[in-house]
Amino acid sequence: MELIEAVKSRKTIRAYKPTPVPREVLGKILEIAVRAPSGVNSQPWEFTVFGGKKLEELKAEITRQHELGVEPHPDFPPGQYSGVYRDRRREVGFRLYDLLGIKREDKEKREQWTVHMRRAFEAPNLIVIAVDQEIASNFLGSLSLGAVMQTICLVALEYGLGTALLGAMGEYPGAIREIAGLADSKKVAICVAIGYPDWNAIPNKLQTIREPLDKITTWVGF
Ligand SMILES: Cc1cc2nc3c(=O)[nH]c(=O)nc-3n(C[C@H](O)[C@H](O)[C@H](O)COP(=O)(O)O)c2cc1C
Repeated sequence: MELIEAVKSRKTIRAYKPTPVPREVLGKILEIAVRAPSGVNSQPWEFTVFGGKKLEELKAEITRQHELGVEPHPDFPPGQYSGVYRDRRREVGFRLYDLLGIKREDKEKREQWTVHMRRAFEAPNLIVIAVDQEIASNFLGSLSLGAVMQTICLVALEYGLGTALLGAMGEYPGAIREIAGLADSKKVAICVAIGYPDWNAIPNKLQTIREPLDKITTWVGF
């Protein structure tokens, strides 16, 4: 796929076909994506790729913790959004719920959607991007993790795949570490659901908007 077309067409995919992604394809995507830049070439990313029964086990454990009312305890707290950031967050949330036919006051349906999200939207595969605790608070390290996560999403398009970056899946990092066999020192930065998009599914109709360039850009020296 042509580069600009890929950047423009990438979007969050929230419904997948059940077909698993072949291991070789997932391997190729990661092999290419690690060409992403990183601060001092530190390459702070570590991947755990889930599929099959292990992914089912992970989803079941996350669902169990959610249903037990275990407080989410992400390795990296999501932070607060106010002002324009809060407005943007609400705008995308409301548009998604409108599309899904979920009323704002319908707590049960919203809860169901949250569980669905924490189950990686039932994607057949999941890539967990972890970072060692030694570099976890390094800002350049965080930027580098962002670079690799976006590169994964773009390279996936070349194989007809869609992705969803899922902060929500990192809310129970202990479950991920336990099932993946990761050490406590490995912190869950972000999860990437990956699979073949179900283009007929309503959640995939969402097209998000962006601020116009003149609102976010200052040109100096022109
Ligand atoms: C770090 C990060 C975490 C995200 N976590 C979630 C998530 O937990 N659930 C979700 O539905 N989307 C999540 N998203 C997707 C964003 O909502 C999405 O990228 C944004 O609304 C723009 O839409 P687009 O990706 O379709 O262009 C996340 C995106 C990023 C970059």
